[in-house]
Amino acid sequence: MIAAKTSSLLLDVKNVTVTFGGLNAVDGARLALEDNQLLGFIGPNGAGKTTLMRAIIGMLTPSSGQIILDGQDISSRRLVDRINLGMALAQQIIKPLKDMTLLDNVALAAGSGKLLSPIKAMIHRSRQHEQDIAHGLLTEVGLADAIYKYPAELPLGFLKRLEVARALARQPKVLLLDEPLAGLSIKEAEDMADLIMGLPCKGRGVILIEHNLSQVRRICKTLYVQNNGRPLAFGATEDVLEKREVQMAYLGKSE
Ligand SMILES: Nc1ncnc2c1ncn2[C@@H]1O[C@H](COP(=O)(O)OP(=O)(O)OP(=O)(O)O)[C@@H](O)[C@H]1O
Ligand SMILES: [Mg+2]
Repeated sequence: MIAAKTSSLLLDVKNVTVTFGGLNAVDGARLALEDNQLLGFIGPNGAGKTTLMRAIIGMLTPSSGQIILDGQDISSRRLVDRINLGMALAQQIIKPLKDMTLLDNVALAAGSGKLLSPIKAMIHRSRQHEQDIAHGLLTEVGLADAIYKYPAELPLGFLKRLEVARALARQPKVLLLDEPLAGLSIKEAEDMADLIMGLPCKGRGVILIEHNLSQVRRICKTLYVQNNGRPLAFGATEDVLEKREVQMAYLGKSE
């Protein structure tokens, strides 16, 4: 008999350290993400936030530490395996395929499992099916009217939404968002934050890296703070933001 799963922990990052040329960009990072949770991840520029995200998804290899996805140790698994096991990253620097419509950009992401996994390659999924998925996701992120546009025709706010749709197309259990509000107007950022607030669901947790603290405070109940690569605080948003060390490091307040 298979024991029922009791934990709702989707991601457990244990003492992860990433070293570049002898310096620790991430130094003993520890965080946990529950099912259906939106975790805010903040810290000053250069704190190692993007580096930790890249280590979590397998774009770079930590010098030590463990990454547990839904109860499975994936520390030594490759990037493609981690994507297939249920991780996706919407990157800080967005790179849509510029010669494809938004629909095809997302359809390609929806079908990429076939390219990455031999087992999935044996399962026939039609291009039409992938386009249907893509249409649904672009509608979910508010881009239904732009599906036949090309990235170059659209403002940054649309492209940030496209990046989220491309990540969702991978059907991730753990969705990592790296500064999805950066560069947006106040209104666009608020709308995007509303969208992000609705992304966690049963079977999916979301980590949101952001410098826009007013939106982070509004939509995230829990925060993880990193400074100089080291974990500084983890817990309820209001408690974390009140901590003196967080204010000193992140907000630049002196007393
Ligand atoms: N590929 C790399 N090679 C060498 N050093 C790197 C590399 N990537 C990042 N770093 C360094 O690691 C540190 C952390 O960078 P990182 O981009 O992870 O910070 P961040 O918290 O995402 O910052 P920001 O808020 O500005 O996006 C920085 O000092 C950066 O210069
Ligand atoms: Mg970054």
